[in-house]
Amino acid sequence: MSNLGNRQIVLASRPTGAPTLNNFSTETQAIPVPAHGEILLRTIYLSLDPYMRGRMSDAPSYAPPVAIGKVMVGSTVSRVEISHHHDFAVGDWVLSQNGWQQYAVSDGKGVFNLGAHVEHPSYALGVLGMPGFTAYMGLLEIGQPKAGETVVVAAAAGAVGSVVGQIAKLKGCHVVGIAGGERKCKSVVEDLGFDACVDHRDPALKNLLAEACPKGIDVYFESVGGVVFDAVLPLLNTCARIPLCGLIAHYNDSKSPVGQDRTAQVMGTFLKRRIRVQGFIIFDDYGTHFGDFQKQMSDWLTAGKIKYREDVVEGLERAPDAFIGLLQGKNFGKLVVQVDAITK
Ligand SMILES: NC(=O)c1ccc[n+]([C@@H]2O[C@H](COP(=O)([O-])OP(=O)(O)OC[C@H]3O[C@@H](n4cnc5c(N)ncnc54)[C@H](OP(=O)(O)O)[C@@H]3O)[C@@H](O)[C@H]2O)c1
Repeated sequence: MSNLGNRQIVLASRPTGAPTLNNFSTETQAIPVPAHGEILLRTIYLSLDPYMRGRMSDAPSYAPPVAIGKVMVGSTVSRVEISHHHDFAVGDWVLSQNGWQQYAVSDGKGVFNLGAHVEHPSYALGVLGMPGFTAYMGLLEIGQPKAGETVVVAAAAGAVGSVVGQIAKLKGCHVVGIAGGERKCKSVVEDLGFDACVDHRDPALKNLLAEACPKGIDVYFESVGGVVFDAVLPLLNTCARIPLCGLIAHYNDSKSPVGQDRTAQVMGTFLKRRIRVQGFIIFDDYGTHFGDFQKQMSDWLTAGKIKYREDVVEGLERAPDAFIGLLQGKNFGKLVVQVDAITK
């Protein structure tokens, strides 16, 4: 075990607009000591996810904000270093919510034991965890895709979108991704098997999307908003479904947009075309389905039916920069920080 202490990244201040490195600071505390009934966890992987931007803000939300000076929240995959708890052995891999730090003590509540031998432990933060589950439930429960329909997926190269599109292909749909840049769009088609992918930075986005969706759009998996939503709206078919998963293009907004109020145009389109839009917060709304999802997704991965890409950043100190990059589309695949070596 490291004798350098427990390095933590804490929220130093709340951002206005895009977060900067000044919103974070690094502290070192003593490594906590587990009491009877507790375990000491050493973080190996830390997940970085868009929802963390919301936790940096104290605006009302579905979850409380991180307090100033407190460790940033986040899901972690850790190893048990010391165990005084009968459900955990030294060396076990666990999924928990230890945040942006190297060590944490737990009484085992909310800690999911993955076992001693796990082929891809970090997958519990991505394709087999929250993002994969979000894709699965959002698409299948809310999107209700049918064979032959057109499904459009925003942020298609990312953790959630990449899985949404691949499941939609397994269901026999015509699948079109929207992603940032040629490299991501190429990979979405060639590596993930989408039928097409258009670049949201291309000024011709609206025309390119219309060409890729000659029969209109039946399901739009929304994670972005902004110009991506603007391009999708005119193409939505009657009775289209929109799983409203996220609005990442707006997470750094600090003021309301100036210009024409488009509420009537947007709501009018929903009304006239009988479009169903449903927001969801994955574990609040669908937590009881997690076991079924894990079984199905494991089977698909084993059969090679779902491909998965990670973007692994080395070192806890790089987490703030990597997180800032996530909000600018710099990640390519599920963004994970490798905090420490698997074995010491
Ligand atoms: N509702 C829920 O329970 C739930 C759960 C998990 C995730 N989510 C939401 O799902 C979405 C995707 O999350 P994820 O974990 O899969 O992240 P991700 O896609 O791996 O990473 C975020 C991606 O968003 C895109 N992006 C960022 N800023 C953008 C902008 N201004 N315009 C267009 N695209 C932009 C970037 O991709 P490009 O380079 O391709 O633009 C970036 O790589 C987020 O909105 C997140 O909040 C919701």
